[in-house]
Amino acid sequence: MAKSELNLDAWEQFVASRRTTRDFLSTPIPQEVIDAILKDAMTAPSWSNTRPYLVGVAQGEVRDRISAAFLARWEKASAAIAGGVWGKAKLLITRFGLPKSDYKVNRKYPDDLKPRSAKVGADLYGLLGVDRDDHEGRRAQWAKNYEFFGAPVSFFIFTHSGLGEYSVSDAGLFMQNLMLSAHARGLGTCAQGASALWADPVRAEFNVPSDYKLLCGIALGYPSEHKVNGFQAERLPISEIVVQPVND
Ligand SMILES: Cc1cc2nc3c(=O)[nH]c(=O)nc-3n(C[C@H](O)[C@H](O)[C@H](O)COP(=O)(O)O)c2cc1C
Repeated sequence: MAKSELNLDAWEQFVASRRTTRDFLSTPIPQEVIDAILKDAMTAPSWSNTRPYLVGVAQGEVRDRISAAFLARWEKASAAIAGGVWGKAKLLITRFGLPKSDYKVNRKYPDDLKPRSAKVGADLYGLLGVDRDDHEGRRAQWAKNYEFFGAPVSFFIFTHSGLGEYSVSDAGLFMQNLMLSAHARGLGTCAQGASALWADPVRAEFNVPSDYKLLCGIALGYPSEHKVNGFQAERLPISEIVVQPVND
């Protein structure tokens, strides 16, 4: 399609209306739809056209096994968090449930970014009626990550460690194309850093060379009517990210 044929209003409305889905129907997704989404994702630009990423497509029993393994680990990890010093000590001794990611997932938010992360968390839990001090409620909501929020499909994105940040940025471009393609087909997605916390259950299901590291997951499915899917994370004005010239 030539640029002049594209309806700009429709494009702006389309791109702005993609929102993270956190409650899916179990409705299966035809394989040809999954393939078409991946084909669209592959039209993203890439560093020297290397496409330094691999994708595992988990559905059916593979999806269920990974979810069960995640939940078993999460149960131990969250019990440890709730159990104070003794709980954490137990986790350190048994080691089962300790984060075992390929990349460092648990990072401290830099001071300038912390308020944004805190706001999205407060707004989301506020919509769900989960109190700030309701640690159990917060853990229960987070645990839904490990059921992929009910989605029948989870993609797992691996990036080549040999290209460092460029493979990660390429994967980001691929992921955004994938998520917009899904959106165009009436499907919802949730990018999930939560799915990178334990790489071993994912690596056990797919043939992935050791130079490829698990970056994150993306849940894919048809969105339900649950109110969480109406959550509108704040969109910052561009003035928040455009820097001023030094000599202005
Ligand atoms: C790389 C990445 C990882 C993410 N991980 C999670 C996650 O583990 N769980 C979750 O509920 N949302 C996750 N998100 C979704 C973000 O919270 C969401 O994109 C952000 O709040 C903006 O909302 P929007 O996608 O609806 O515009 C992730 C997003 C990205 C890009």
